[in-house]
Amino acid sequence: MAKKPYYITTPIYYPSGNWHIGHCYTTVICDALARFHKLMGEEVFFLTGTDEHGQKVEKEAAKRGITPREFIDPLVAQLKDMWKLLDVDYNRFIRTTDEDHVKCVQRIYQKLFESGDIYKAEYEGYYCTPCEAFWTEAQLKEGKCPDCGREVSLQKEESYFFRLSKYAPRLLKLYEDNPEFLQPKSRVNEMVNNFLKAGLTDLSVSRTTVKWGVPLPFDPKHTAYVWIDALSNYISALGYSGGDDSLYKKFWPADLHMVGKEIVRFHAIIWPAILMALGEPIPKQIYGHGWLLIGGEKLSKSKENARPELTDPYDLVKRYGADAVRYFLLREIPFGSDGEYTTERFLGRVNSDLANDLGNLVSRTAAMIVQNFQSLPPCGEKTALDLKLEEIANGLFAKVKDAMDRLNAPEALEHIFALVGRANKYIDETTPWLLAKDPAQKDRLGTVLYHLAEVCRICAVLLKPFLTRATSLILKSFSCPEEMGFESVSFGYLKAGAKVEKLPPIFPRIDMKKELAEVEKLVKERHTPSVPAGQLPLKGEPSGKSAGPAPSVISSGAEKSQITIDDFAKVELKIGEVIACEKVNKSEKLLHETVKVGEETRSVVSGIAKFYTPEEMVGKKVVLVTNLKPVKLCGVLSEGMILCAEDEAGNLTLLSPERAVASGAKVR
Ligand code: MSP
Repeated sequence: MAKKPYYITTPIYYPSGNWHIGHCYTTVICDALARFHKLMGEEVFFLTGTDEHGQKVEKEAAKRGITPREFIDPLVAQLKDMWKLLDVDYNRFIRTTDEDHVKCVQRIYQKLFESGDIYKAEYEGYYCTPCEAFWTEAQLKEGKCPDCGREVSLQKEESYFFRLSKYAPRLLKLYEDNPEFLQPKSRVNEMVNNFLKAGLTDLSVSRTTVKWGVPLPFDPKHTAYVWIDALSNYISALGYSGGDDSLYKKFWPADLHMVGKEIVRFHAIIWPAILMALGEPIPKQIYGHGWLLIGGEKLSKSKENARPELTDPYDLVKRYGADAVRYFLLREIPFGSDGEYTTERFLGRVNSDLANDLGNLVSRTAAMIVQNFQSLPPCGEKTALDLKLEEIANGLFAKVKDAMDRLNAPEALEHIFALVGRANKYIDETTPWLLAKDPAQKDRLGTVLYHLAEVCRICAVLLKPFLTRATSLILKSFSCPEEMGFESVSFGYLKAGAKVEKLPPIFPRIDMKKELAEVEKLVKERHTPSVPAGQLPLKGEPSGKSAGPAPSVISSGAEKSQITIDDFAKVELKIGEVIACEKVNKSEKLLHETVKVGEETRSVVSGIAKFYTPEEMVGKKVVLVTNLKPVKLCGVLSEGMILCAEDEAGNLTLLSPERAVASGAKVR
């Protein structure tokens, strides 16, 4: 039988480089849904990518004196690394600079121009560059962008327009006839009342002032409006209207566009109107999820300094493992609503659900089997308790499927963890540790452990879409094939005599108080300018597979920018001699050096305590940046920065003059 196709997309990301855990939310949910549908036996196409054109990128590249491409490429590589780290398994990573996408956007414009849905006129209105959105004066809030509250600029230029107004009645009908089209329901009112009923105006869809964009085929001094360019990725990725459109034929219309709530408007109004104009089917569903908040505000990197939270996905995965990050995102935020992010909530979830409940259940079960039977014991006569546990386990798949059909991953996980909880209670009720002491109870012990092993296996299979690493370790320890799927999620698949192996602690319990203090200190140090970024100590590799090569998720992408000799001359570098050195109180990373620079003596704090002892430092000749603004680090004054080389593993080595030279000598 032909497999049912399932097409799911994330928004394509702006290559800003300021990735934080909020960014991972949309994509991790989509990855879990894609994995779930694959396990259901469907043929899945999961699309993600980057949104690379527009004024923002053009300006950022110009600021750095590099081309937009030079600016973007390292950021795209970081994003791909981030998805790899989180085990996001997409089918295509589309870039709006990909040639096939650019050509498809041009075909779309040509078609709409020829059908009369795109026409030329003059645009006058307000533009918000960060949101890449146009606004009329009436739509502004106190003269600012109504979405993000930032400054807008008045723009007047020749532009092509899309006849959006013409599609308002059809869009209203779409909402009336398809209550499932936009979810959750709360977003529908906003679209219908604030936009559709208020009346749509035609949309400016080309710019002459932005060069970094797709040139319009019928008037190349115009480039495509970035949102039309970006939205088109959902069909260009499938080869829409190109030579080979077999993927388009198979997968379009999309089953789901998952997007953050702030971009629902583009997806639920502009996108269907464009598709209507093209005569193409409308996606089956758009889901506008909520945000991860910090202190009640949308999590964003620019507000990071104000709080003691670890939000960098790279740091989080390295410290706690991909499963923990995925689990938090999928379980903690009520689906469709906003959810507050704190390190405490993160650690709380990981400790209670993963370490205490799941971790304990599987490691205790495997250990008791190995200790008492070596291999899986046979199931003997069943008691009411056994039958109850079996009944709950056998009914679990239906509940999980029902929740996932409503895209509700938190609810699906709640059901799975209810069984985990029930099984832990079953251990308390059946007291296998007491049964083990009585040889007459050997059969009963075997039956109890058999039941527990089946529950562990069923939970592992059902958890596959959510936890990508622990699940394969659990299956392996009960000798189950890695590819074991949903056909097996009821009692009866484990056979007596099967080999069982002890599990390593898959989710070690984290000492919350200690960890919170450590994280707070680390975040403070991270935000002090002379501590090199990306140097946070690791909590040990995550369990299961290694997290893969360390990507430079943290760097800003400015590494390729070029400076003039005058820029370089602004930095004053001198040779200094360390004449005293001590550890900075309460810091694992910082050393406090007294450095002689010619006649002067300076107090300098550097993040090198992991690589040099204070004794080793004394007497060293170092290269010092001497015109940095002084700062206090952990309460100690720092009047300069000692230069070091950093290897790939993050180890630091001091730079020293190759021949003897007096302190105070200039470095040029
Ligand atoms: N480029 C557009 C999308 C074009 S799709 C045709 C864009 N990009 S984005 O990089 O700003 O956002 C990508 C995704 O990250 C969006 O779904 C957005 O909602 C999500 N998030 C960014 N910050 C977030 C939180 N703090 N919380 C949850 N998701 C958030 O928009």
